[in-house]
Formats: sequence, C-alpha cells, structure tokens
Amino acid sequence: MVRGSEIYNDFCVACHMPAGEGIPFVFPPLAKSDYLKQQRTASIKGVKFGQEGELIVNGETYNNTMAPMGLDDGEIADVMNYIMNSWGNSTNEMVTIKEVEAITE
Ligand code: HEC
Repeated sequence: MVRGSEIYNDFCVACHMPAGEGIPFVFPPLAKSDYLKQQRTASIKGVKFGQEGELIVNGETYNNTMAPMGLDDGEIADVMNYIMNSWGNSTNEMVTIKEVEAITE
C-alpha cells in the first residue's frame, strides 16, 4: 500500500486526482469505480499496456486514452492494490506479481 501510494502520486494523480475522483467526462474515477471492481483483469491490462476507446465507468462513457506508463509488474501490482483499497474501495483478493505477469496484450 505504501509503495502503491508513492507510485500513484508519481504516475496517476495528475489524471485520476488525489482522491481518485477523476475529472468528469475526461478522466474516469477510480474511487467507487464499478469498472475497476468488476473488470479486474481489464483494469490491470489497461494500466500495463495502455487503454483507449470507449469505456463506461459508473454509467458515464469515456472515450479517451491512457498511455502505458512503463511500470514493471511489481509496481503495477502495488499501485493496483493501492487503488483497489483506497477511497472506499476494497478487495479481499490482493493483486500479485504473478497475476500481472499472466496478463498479456
Ligand atoms: C494521462 C492521464 C492518465 C494517467 C496519468 C493515468 N490514467 Fe488511468 N485512465 C485515463 C483515461 C483517459 C482512462 C480511460 C481510457 C478510455 O477512455 O478508454 C483511464 C482508465 C483507467 C482505469 C479503468 C477505468 C476506471 O476508472 O476504473 C484504471 C483502473 C486506471 N485508469 C488506473 C490508472 C493508474 C493505476 C494509473 C497510474 C499508474 C493511471 N491510471 C494513470 C487517464 C490516465
């Protein structure tokens, strides 16, 4: 969580904002995001390889681009665990490096 928060503040905060609230219609929220909760593998894949095209978060459609940030699998696991357990989000299944490794383009 501590490592994940540092990565978040370095790489993600500019778009997804300090409380994970995003910017309406531009950058989707991570806080209480139904997409993040229900589309776990797709969310990890987006952070790993980038994500573009239509994506619906909490009923709002986003059609924008998130470039890949060049994080290694361990850093991705850390930041995923941070965002999935912050701002009211929680998961009882932590993301592991193995899980991130297994996700390919
Ligand atoms: C340059 C802005 C930008 C940065 C930096 C960025 N994102 Fe994103 N992110 C986006 C956009 C835009 C989308 C939606 C893409 C689309 O419309 O297809 C998105 C989508 C997502 C989603 C899936 C949708 C959701 O809201 O649940 C997750 C999860 C996510 N980002 C996590 C991260 C993490 C973790 C980082 C840092 C490692 C990060 N993002 C950095 C812009 C950004």
